[in-house]
Amino acid sequence: MDMLKICCIGAGYVGGPTMAKISQKCPDIRVTVVDMNAAKIEQWMTDDLPVYEPGLLECVKEARGRNLFFSTEVEQGIREADIIFISVNTPTKTYGVGAGKAADLKYVERCARMIAEVSESDKIVVEKSTLPVRTAQSIKRILDSSSPDGVRFQVLSNPEFLAEGTAMTDLEHPDRVLIGGETSAEGDKAVGRLASVYRRWVPADRIITTNIWSSELSKLTANAFLAQRISSINAISALCEATGANVDEVAHAIGRDSRIGPKFLKSSIGFGGSCFQKDILNLVYLCEHFGLPEVAHYWEQVVQMNDYQRRRFVTRILDTLFNTVSDKKIAIWGFAFKKDTNDTRESSAIYICKSLLEEQAHLSIYDPRVGAEQIYRELGVDADCAQVTIAKNPCEAARDAHAIAILTEWDEFKMESLDYASLLDSMQKPAFIFDGRNIVDRKALRQMGFEAYSVGTGD
Ligand code: UDX
Ligand code: UDX
Repeated sequence: MDMLKICCIGAGYVGGPTMAKISQKCPDIRVTVVDMNAAKIEQWMTDDLPVYEPGLLECVKEARGRNLFFSTEVEQGIREADIIFISVNTPTKTYGVGAGKAADLKYVERCARMIAEVSESDKIVVEKSTLPVRTAQSIKRILDSSSPDGVRFQVLSNPEFLAEGTAMTDLEHPDRVLIGGETSAEGDKAVGRLASVYRRWVPADRIITTNIWSSELSKLTANAFLAQRISSINAISALCEATGANVDEVAHAIGRDSRIGPKFLKSSIGFGGSCFQKDILNLVYLCEHFGLPEVAHYWEQVVQMNDYQRRRFVTRILDTLFNTVSDKKIAIWGFAFKKDTNDTRESSAIYICKSLLEEQAHLSIYDPRVGAEQIYRELGVDADCAQVTIAKNPCEAARDAHAIAILTEWDEFKMESLDYASLLDSMQKPAFIFDGRNIVDRKALRQMGFEAYSVGTGD
């Protein structure tokens, strides 16, 4: 039998790590990752990968050149493949009907049209990107209506559940792999073929198969539930600040109830990342579209609570710094949306920094994995903006600062990693710390002489 060939369109945070893992686990499958962005493809061929994930480089190095290839030849990649993953981005629409909520499917549609045009043999087309329910049907229609005679397509939904920062472990030991397919003999066969790829390293009982719509909707629902937990604990954090309760203690206490469970109860400056907000807005749009305004309204609150949590953090800084940050230097520690990633999409840090800049603060920003150019771009300022400087380390950022705001929970900001006493000496007095991730010991810092605040504590 010929070697099975997989092509993945989109060499981003999802496509790159997922294909690296498949190729590592299946040396007998040829995996080609294609992307229209030549610079990105170029970078995937070096040791300075465009995506930072612990363990990713080692995995890529094991398979690259053996059965893992990166290329800009999208058409050729499609033509040669048996299974094609669509892993392009699906941003929130910024124009026309559904602007601000619906997913923009133009890249996905473009992929489908290209697949239809260039395919010369039967293909299994896999939706890896998160898509609105019933997108598979549209893809199938495009494929069937513009492909040459005799070429047959099966469309599957196989959403990705990896979280950035832990992507390689999540891919190695997934809680489940979900595959949705058409309910027909051909659909079952396609599902079986994809399942057999994952079965090389994922136990069979962790591979769930459903109809296509359930699979598409499960991805949106999983993200909505996860985000909802964060918004729920963040809502309680506001009440903790008002009453003197401590949100981490509350989270610990409720998390011990096995029906609730301990995960995703960390109160913070609000969730970021490319998925949660986008997917919830997408869910809201779908509910509105199907005439379910109450359901839409219910889920929309999750995003509104997140916005509120970000605003509250900024307000707390302003209130505490005597109602003005104008011309004050504030050290910003962390810019990525969570630790162990270089991804800044929808990071709460962007919102918080922009609000502080509007208040005329001077920001000195440090993130171990995010480069200066990316920070300037996200903040919409030029590199010569007098209000923003990029620091090489946390101490440089804090020198002469009035306050430190911890916005990402990088390990290097923890008490055991830094000499907080000498930091204090280098800062303006009173020296404030606003811990937006509750990673430092507030009481110990106060004893040292800091004015320390965390999320969800009243004192
Ligand atoms: C992911 C998921 O796939 C998506 O479901 C989720 O909702 C958002 O994030 P991700 O891998 O994080 O996508 O996106 P990104 O890192 O932006 O990568 C997408 C890649 O697709 C980019 O490298 C882009 O250049 C490429 N692309 C996009 C194409 O090659 N062709 C296109 O037509 C569009
Ligand atoms: C998420 C889902 O977890 C993943 O399954 C899906 O495939 C893509 O979206 P990701 O966005 O990469 O993954 O990271 P995640 O760990 O879910 O964190 C998202 C945001 O929530 C981050 O900003 C994180 O800091 C925040 N968060 C997470 C909290 O504020 N508190 C928590 O308890 C957990």
